[in-house]
Amino acid sequence: MGTYPDRLLILFLFFISASNVFGSNICTSQGVTTCRQCLAVHPTCAWCFHEEYGKGGSGASRCDLKQNLIDGGCSPTAVQFPSSTLSIQKDAPLSNKASGTDDVTQIRPQKLHITLRPGDSKRFTVSVKQVEDYPVDLYYLMDLSFSMKDDLARLRTLGNELAVTMGRTTSNLQMGFGAFVDKTASPYMYTYPPEAVENPCFGIHKTCQAQFGFKHVLSLTERVARFTEEVEKQRVSRNRDAPEGGFDAIMQAVVCKDRIGWRPDASHLLVFTTDAKTHIALDGRIAGIVQPNDGKCHLDNENVYNKSNMLDYPSMALMTEKMSENNINLIFAVTNYVVPLYQEYSKLIPGTTVGLLSEDSGNVIQLIVDAYAKIRSKVELELLGVPEELNLSFNATCLNGEVIPGLKSCSGLKIGDTVSFNVEAQLRSCPKEKSHTFTIKPRGFKDSLEVTVDFACGCDCESNAIADSVLCSNGNGTYECGVCQCHEGRLGPKCECSVEDYNPSDDVNCIPKPGNSICSGRGECLCGQCSCHANDFGQVWGKYCECDDFNCLRFKGALCSDHGKCSCGLCQCEAGWKGETCNCTTRTDTCMSSLGLLCSGRGNCQCGVCQCTQPGAYGDTCDKCPTCPDSCTIKKQCVECQHFKRGQYTEDNSCSIICRDEIKVVTELAFHDKNAVNCSYKDENDCVEHFQYYEDESGKSILYVVKEPECPQGPDILVVLLAVAGAILLLGIVGLLIWKLLVTIHDRREFARFQEERAKAKWDTANNPLYKGATSTFTNVAYRGT
Ligand SMILES: *[C@@H]1O[C@H](CO)[C@@H](O)[C@H](O)[C@H]1NC(C)=O
Ligand SMILES: *[C@@H]1O[C@H](CO)[C@@H](O)[C@H](O)[C@H]1NC(C)=O
Ligand SMILES: *[C@@H]1O[C@H](CO)[C@@H](O)[C@H](O)[C@H]1NC(C)=O
Ligand SMILES: *[C@@H]1O[C@H](CO)[C@@H](O)[C@H](O)[C@H]1NC(C)=O
Ligand SMILES: *[C@@H]1O[C@H](CO)[C@@H](O)[C@H](O)[C@H]1NC(C)=O
Ligand SMILES: *[C@@H]1O[C@H](CO)[C@@H](O)[C@H](O)[C@H]1NC(C)=O
Repeated sequence: MGTYPDRLLILFLFFISASNVFGSNICTSQGVTTCRQCLAVHPTCAWCFHEEYGKGGSGASRCDLKQNLIDGGCSPTAVQFPSSTLSIQKDAPLSNKASGTDDVTQIRPQKLHITLRPGDSKRFTVSVKQVEDYPVDLYYLMDLSFSMKDDLARLRTLGNELAVTMGRTTSNLQMGFGAFVDKTASPYMYTYPPEAVENPCFGIHKTCQAQFGFKHVLSLTERVARFTEEVEKQRVSRNRDAPEGGFDAIMQAVVCKDRIGWRPDASHLLVFTTDAKTHIALDGRIAGIVQPNDGKCHLDNENVYNKSNMLDYPSMALMTEKMSENNINLIFAVTNYVVPLYQEYSKLIPGTTVGLLSEDSGNVIQLIVDAYAKIRSKVELELLGVPEELNLSFNATCLNGEVIPGLKSCSGLKIGDTVSFNVEAQLRSCPKEKSHTFTIKPRGFKDSLEVTVDFACGCDCESNAIADSVLCSNGNGTYECGVCQCHEGRLGPKCECSVEDYNPSDDVNCIPKPGNSICSGRGECLCGQCSCHANDFGQVWGKYCECDDFNCLRFKGALCSDHGKCSCGLCQCEAGWKGETCNCTTRTDTCMSSLGLLCSGRGNCQCGVCQCTQPGAYGDTCDKCPTCPDSCTIKKQCVECQHFKRGQYTEDNSCSIICRDEIKVVTELAFHDKNAVNCSYKDENDCVEHFQYYEDESGKSILYVVKEPECPQGPDILVVLLAVAGAILLLGIVGLLIWKLLVTIHDRREFARFQEERAKAKWDTANNPLYKGATSTFTNVAYRGT
């Protein structure tokens, strides 16, 4: 065998060449040699059985997409391409009411025929409707052990009332009665003193009926008076151990349908009343009873279960199966003490309900009515005889048209409601048989849908196979669907080579390149051709047995991550996946941030996960990045809408979608974390808003918003007044100062002149310059000399 890189290289080259030359696809790459194998590869694969196809060295594969075969020269009549089909064969409409008509239909459609190719699937819809006034058969199965004495007394008085009450739900009621105690063998029974066999109450000085297993008393009848009459005749018995043999009685009541009188077109209610535990399968061993219950009716001429001491108690599985077969709804009406026990049984036996019976059975009527309502309020599909290879999946559409994936039941329904189920049937592999019929039916209904599936696993051309054909080297093989299936020991496309004709020189043709092992170590070289060994893990094929469908890369243990097919060492991924191991989704919606940006514009979407490239960015969509330069800008809008209820996000109502931050209002910012960023911005009122954006470890983002934005202050009247007054005062003072200065300067000048003048004057110091003589001269201006 070559080294691993060698092999990979070969695989790689093989793959490249294959895809270039033939247009490799899932059909051609598997190396299939028969038509049947080809169909199993994929639902799109077809086979050409034309004898001449692929001759002339083109090497075209007979197994290919249908169109490729036709393009490659195969005549359409020689193409084998069975396709999956679905046809509805019986589709009677759902009935509304049961009364008056014989043919009540509660499920639609009633018959389907499906043809399925391996790997393919088909879908259909099943509708179920419970009709009104459906007939009811009620069989009352009573524990007649000693402790039920008061219950029996009470039931004697209840017969009529029960009929009347049930009559409100249906106009067609039949009632029947049966009783049980336990197997008549020690240690279940008193056998000593001998009188106790006939009268088990001998020990307590009373008389009672001899012990019995199960006794069918009254077949289902419309005459309610008969019910009361028969119940009145009943006497209690007595057994020894605490548990009773009720399951034996249930089994007989279920399977003896003719004796009990169950009508096919009715709801079958089996009311099982007891106040004690019950024996279960394998309990028979203590009395030496080892033969398993056979699930058959064993009532003798006296209507007594006469195999009580020969067959063990029935198992839950057997009871479930028989109840489903006979559409029985079992109601456990049990006393307080054993309710939890029977609730557990109820979980193991689908289709049963449990009701709490009062000590004297006084509430049994209400209990039955409630249980019946509960049964009728639920529709659950059950599947009978589905082959293992067929995978059925369901989606329920219950009330309000809501689709519940994966569910095949609906509850909370009213009579008359229609529910539907989408069913997908997928054929996973080919069963041995050619066709199979199975049943889908609502539990407890007789109505059912019968589905017949034809498995399209084989090719029509197989029926024309010629054994020992001349085309295969004179009868050395079978000619089938265009190819020879060689007999043991023969090889080659025409079985032309015999294993005995071994020639060592042929081996060269089986070695991909010198140094490698023959047929990659996974086959034998026969007549110069590799005959690949069968392998437990899967198919091996290829010219040198180099290909297989199990040696591919795994991711988390899953071959090709379960999202692709392994073909010759390479994963061929399903749509929507890529990568070497198909573990990489091509989806990008998971990378979309709430703002509608792929990875918030801070990274790349790889395999559906954001790889954040911006330093400091993190989060599923790189949406968290306190330290990014733009984080203040982004968070600003959130402060605006979350805190102030305004801004763009408030207008387009996107605030609650985009902003998930917690707002904490603070009076001033404080230090919270070194990753917190302080931001501020100017809002529409020109106020500066400060906030701090902080994300804790869990990724929760907190915005600390300062309560009071910083706004420009308006002018203050007092300040203005003071300022004006101050200014006026100041101006006044300055004016005064200037005036004073001017006056001073003027005075000085005058004084200086005066000094000057004084200096010029020649006065006696005795003379006062200011002195004027007392003589004055006057001139008469009016006088004119003549
Ligand atoms: C039980 O009763 C049936 C019907 O009467 C009878 O054929 C059968 O032999 C009886 N079996 C036993 C064990 O008594
Ligand atoms: C059947 O199909 C469902 C869904 O397609 C799948 O989940 C389930 O595993 C399948 N069951 C089996 C037994 O393959
Ligand atoms: C059931 O619902 C799921 C999810 O809605 C869908 O993928 C699937 O195909 C449905 N199956 C059927 C049988 O309708
Ligand atoms: C197989 O082929 C050989 C050689 O072609 C021939 O001699 C022989 O008769 C054939 N065998 C049978 C069983 O026909
Ligand atoms: C896919 O698998 C490879 C290893 O084969 C691994 O390195 C890579 O992380 C995986 N990718 C995803 C998305 O899981
Ligand atoms: C934000 O402002 C507060 C208060 O002025 C200060 O204590 C804190 O260190 C600042 N944080 C950053 C990251 O600058």
